[in-house]
Amino acid sequence: MEKSYKKLLENNKAWVTLQSYNDPNYFKNLAEGQSPEYLWIGCSDSRVPANEITGTIPGEMFVHRNIANMVVHSDMNLLSVLSYAVEVLKVKHIIVCGHYNCGGVIAAMGNKQYGLIDNWLRHIKDVYRYHFLELDAIEDLEMRARRFVELNVIEQVHDLGKTSIVQNAWKNNQPLNIHGWVYDVRDGLIKDLEVTFTCIKDLHSVYHFEDKNAI
Ligand code: CO
Repeated sequence: MEKSYKKLLENNKAWVTLQSYNDPNYFKNLAEGQSPEYLWIGCSDSRVPANEITGTIPGEMFVHRNIANMVVHSDMNLLSVLSYAVEVLKVKHIIVCGHYNCGGVIAAMGNKQYGLIDNWLRHIKDVYRYHFLELDAIEDLEMRARRFVELNVIEQVHDLGKTSIVQNAWKNNQPLNIHGWVYDVRDGLIKDLEVTFTCIKDLHSVYHFEDKNAI
């Protein structure tokens, strides 16, 4: 057991040696700061490592991960990451990336009690309720789960647009696109769901904030 965790530290040393060999200034440059162009909101699932599947390297992607890649507007962790990414780092793209075979989404489709996590899964269940006519009509449970994963991602793209953080960026003409993607653990490919939000018009008007000063 001890050996398995020590292996990580050995791997780290080997990685440092390799990076420094390829570029002697590698760590010096990274230490100077970050200006990533992307914010990634993905699932905590160990099979979906953001950098590896997108061919990005340290410094290129700001990352937030939680169970089932949720954008919950009362989640201080998500909001803090979003605020820093948009207002300080000024990322140009936010990517919500779900994945098929997502344990969180599959659990949310069922009725088992899991404990504390049920409170988190309830946010996903809400997405099911919004789309129950479409989802209930899919008889094959695996196909239903796949569609549920997609609909959940689309809902999270909407949820990002609802935040004042994103809306204020758009109001200030800051270029900011929000994308919805799904990763397939079976073949490694990412599917773009083509639900990109680029401005306030992409969001239902009931969610539009007026200018703060207009009140
Ligand atoms: Co997942």
